[in-house]
Amino acid sequence: MAAPPIPSSLAERLSETARRLQTARRVALAALDVDETTWEYAGRTWSWPAGEARTYFHELAPGEAQVLERATEQYGARRVGVGTGRVAVELPADTVGSDEPHVAKLARYGPDAEMGAGKPQNRRERALWEAIGSHPFLPVCAADDDGDWLVMPRATVPPPPADREVAMSRIRRALAAHDDAFHFDELKPENVGRYDGRYWIVDYGRPPGEPRFVEPP
Ligand SMILES: Nc1ncnc2c1ncn2[C@@H]1O[C@H](COP(=O)(O)OP(=O)(O)O)[C@@H](O)[C@H]1O
Ligand SMILES: [Mg+2]
Repeated sequence: MAAPPIPSSLAERLSETARRLQTARRVALAALDVDETTWEYAGRTWSWPAGEARTYFHELAPGEAQVLERATEQYGARRVGVGTGRVAVELPADTVGSDEPHVAKLARYGPDAEMGAGKPQNRRERALWEAIGSHPFLPVCAADDDGDWLVMPRATVPPPPADREVAMSRIRRALAAHDDAFHFDELKPENVGRYDGRYWIVDYGRPPGEPRFVEPP
């Protein structure tokens, strides 16, 4: 499982795509012009620039989708998954020095790591991988320094329905030793994948502990 070399031309393209992605979401959110950007839920105050409807929180803004279409046309990076903070794109086989398929996780824009910002999550995932470097954390093979993207092996996410229960209980057991590093809210099928005959956690960039709210409870 040696880290594959990422050519500098590909690294530059990924950085550019991530930056465009961030601009597109920021501009789309600013254009919504919502008065109430905070709301109460479960005794806590939450905040998102587009308000309680959380427009463009889970789903891509149209401008983000366009940026990703352009990346597919220009260098064959194909969207395979969307999270609130990162978008996973599969990299064309001949651009990564490896026989295995790889994805890049591109950082989206958000006000903070709790609410949509992918860059701190990418940086934390890389740091955690460098510190722990073993199953059940899916390897980070390459990353840029400021968190715009990181590269991982491609996994099958989420686990197929027939395997899901077994996969989640195995991952939960494997993570028990890391409860100081892993935020257990993130233990859900869309963050777990099958790779190399095992199940792995593919999304571990969120800091552990209580979520950061505008006014902590
Ligand atoms: N290594 C991977 N292989 C295949 N798909 C992935 C991989 N990592 C992430 N994905 C897909 O991309 C989505 C977003 O990535 P994730 O790391 O969960 O970002 P976020 O922090 O935004 O939730 C995941 O839910 C999954 O569908
Ligand atoms: Mg996720």
